[in-house]
Amino acid sequence: MPGHTLTLRPSGRSQTFSEGTILADALADMGVMVKTPCGGKGTCGKCRVRASVGTSGPAGTCLSCQARLAADVQVYLDELPQTGGRPYPAPDPAARYAVAVDIGTTTVKVSLVDCTHDRSWDLDVFLNPQRRWGHDVISRIAASADREVSSRMTFQVRQAVFSSIRTAFDAMNMSPLRIEKIVVSGNTTMLYLFLGLDVEPLGRFPFPAATRDFDELTVNQAVADQFGSAVIRALPVHSAFLGADLVGGLAICHGLGFTRGVFFIDLGTNGEIFLLDGAGEVYATSCAMGPALEGMNISWGMTADSGAITRISLERGTLGYSMIGEGEPAGITGTALIDIVAILLEENIIRTDGAFARGLEERVLPYPMRYVLREDIAGIRLWGDITLTQKDIRNVQLAKAAALAAGRLLLKEAACPADRVDHVLIGGAFGEHLEMRHFRALGFLPDFPGAVWHFLGNTSLKAAQKACCNGRFSAEAAALRNRIHEVSLSQHPQFATEFIAGVNFGQGRGSQ
Ligand code: FES
Repeated sequence: MPGHTLTLRPSGRSQTFSEGTILADALADMGVMVKTPCGGKGTCGKCRVRASVGTSGPAGTCLSCQARLAADVQVYLDELPQTGGRPYPAPDPAARYAVAVDIGTTTVKVSLVDCTHDRSWDLDVFLNPQRRWGHDVISRIAASADREVSSRMTFQVRQAVFSSIRTAFDAMNMSPLRIEKIVVSGNTTMLYLFLGLDVEPLGRFPFPAATRDFDELTVNQAVADQFGSAVIRALPVHSAFLGADLVGGLAICHGLGFTRGVFFIDLGTNGEIFLLDGAGEVYATSCAMGPALEGMNISWGMTADSGAITRISLERGTLGYSMIGEGEPAGITGTALIDIVAILLEENIIRTDGAFARGLEERVLPYPMRYVLREDIAGIRLWGDITLTQKDIRNVQLAKAAALAAGRLLLKEAACPADRVDHVLIGGAFGEHLEMRHFRALGFLPDFPGAVWHFLGNTSLKAAQKACCNGRFSAEAAALRNRIHEVSLSQHPQFATEFIAGVNFGQGRGSQ
């Protein structure tokens, strides 16, 4: 296959790639992280770069997630768009700063922590660049069998995190040398890949996690010299399938006083769940939910970037939305996805089995919804071209069936009836503004009669933030971690049955 040279301007740095390589991937291999909020579907328009002739599209600006190398090409980096759409804080000259990072399988979140005043701000959210090697941890582990790919995954996620921090600090007019530490959280595979550890054993029975507490990484080791003498730390993990996101969430909940009669789930591409029974014993498990709640595998899904609809509501027959930034909406996030599916269910536009109701062609739907059938794909059009298809709804069902099955089996294995749970705690990297009524209506979790439900936001990131300011937090989290009884669902004989029973929307077994 012929090779083509990609040259970065103005630096002149160049590298050769095989014909047909996606431009955004080639740039990522050169350490240039272009934001791809819709996951490279070509729907959000946020990954535009200016390129000379040489891609599969015309010269000028092109969508780097769609353009493929067809000849030698030059890309002009001084014109890279900065997306994000969120305001940055004004730096305090007297404050001590750290950075907390939640490395999700799908989404990475970066926040600034002011350790002097114990407060934090979101700086950035972007898709994990390792997604090109698979949507879930199992595919990433399989891909890492090739050592070169494994190093590229480590390189790319570090580059993406460090360049995101650098961009934010430039925008705040603050030197990155002020960062004292960078604390990362995430599932075990994501942390191993970030730290450059071998992930291969994590995918092989009995799935040993040889390292559960991590040594500090210096910025020199991480090739991040722009951060002076900052140290890089990772929160402790429990096992291959129970990562720092679960351990951190456990420590956050304990810190909030939730110590018994508690059911917790961290919703993401992996669902991580723990149960604190009436005696305070800790049982935990995890399940694969797919990336739908993070806006991926959804036709018009995207991360919480400018142009993203984050909430949808229905009032007096008309849909309304909240969006990040200005202008026309470019897609929907996981929280908006939960809203719209719950609204469709409430309005009997979809049935409890997830299928579209009959006769929608003739029905007047809440404005501006329109039932569309294009190339045999049924969908509900919302604003502009943004459409929710039958397949998108199926992906939500798969996520919710996995969470419901895992929740039910954890209760069973812990011999804890659902009515002994007083507090249901929801954490998640998929969005900060979950409408609990909509979430509950879809039936992601067992029915907990009498429990109070709380949304805690991104507990994995919050744990990393805590560890930035509190030197004892990691040790306390590790002590709690040592009390976990792990319930493995990968070979559980009832998982498939529970999964199928949980596919229909609504709470309880099957459809209601
Ligand atoms: S990432 Fe290219 S259009 Fe959205």
